[in-house]
Amino acid sequence: MAKNTSKSPQKICLKNKIEVAKFSSEMIDQQLFMNKNSVIGLATGSTPHQTYRELIKIHVSRQRSWAQVKTVNLDEYYGVHRNNTQSYNYYMHMQLFNYIDIRKCNILLPNGTTSDPIAEAKNYEKKITDIGGIDLWLIGIGSNGHIGFNEPGSSRKSRTRLVNLSDTTITDNSRFFDKEIDVPTQAITVGIATIMEARKILLLATGKNKSRAINAALNEPIGPNCPASFLRQHPDCTFLVDEAAAELCKSDFS
Ligand code: F6R
Repeated sequence: MAKNTSKSPQKICLKNKIEVAKFSSEMIDQQLFMNKNSVIGLATGSTPHQTYRELIKIHVSRQRSWAQVKTVNLDEYYGVHRNNTQSYNYYMHMQLFNYIDIRKCNILLPNGTTSDPIAEAKNYEKKITDIGGIDLWLIGIGSNGHIGFNEPGSSRKSRTRLVNLSDTTITDNSRFFDKEIDVPTQAITVGIATIMEARKILLLATGKNKSRAINAALNEPIGPNCPASFLRQHPDCTFLVDEAAAELCKSDFS
């Protein structure tokens, strides 16, 4: 393991996605061990999939309880019902929630079928504030550098809102759908400011198709061209990547 000791972001590069999943699940478990009332921010997509498997294993093997934990997800497709198999709500239940003892009332995801996305977004921010903010937010990164669905061009001050997905994201996400035309084109996402308020952030990236985004996030000027670059301004953020994702900036991780 190569580890950089500078304060933030901390940069950790591991061999492959299995090691990334084990390491990230241990970091989340450590948070739950320290505080059983933790508020954990979560992401969907292919990257955290294995981390959730590891967390389920830990839940069983160490009897780590999620009964008092609250979770907050980054985003939900707009126009997709929570029971639809393509919704992020459905994903979270299938990948994690159905296998741990979390209480349904402690799960927070945007309502993707609201007729009033402005009110939904405002309410989502209020709910996050009311539960005391996020202790640790697990996030992924898009191949274009997005975090949540804050696409390139998003403001550092952005808050939860309805957004249009970029063409790159629609193409990337089409691998989960039969046809590209079926991919939702909008989502309700938390903002960059919302993510930056988490007390700790853990960004995961695996695979070669993330190498440009990781390099841009760490080395290009901080700004909306690469939304993940704003994470360099966070006081406690970890970039946890595999060797393939670190390919274009190996020296950052040495
Ligand atoms: C998902 C999310 C997105 C993904 C990103 C990477 O809730 O907010 O930012 O984390 O698009 O997706 P994968 O992991 O599928 O490559």
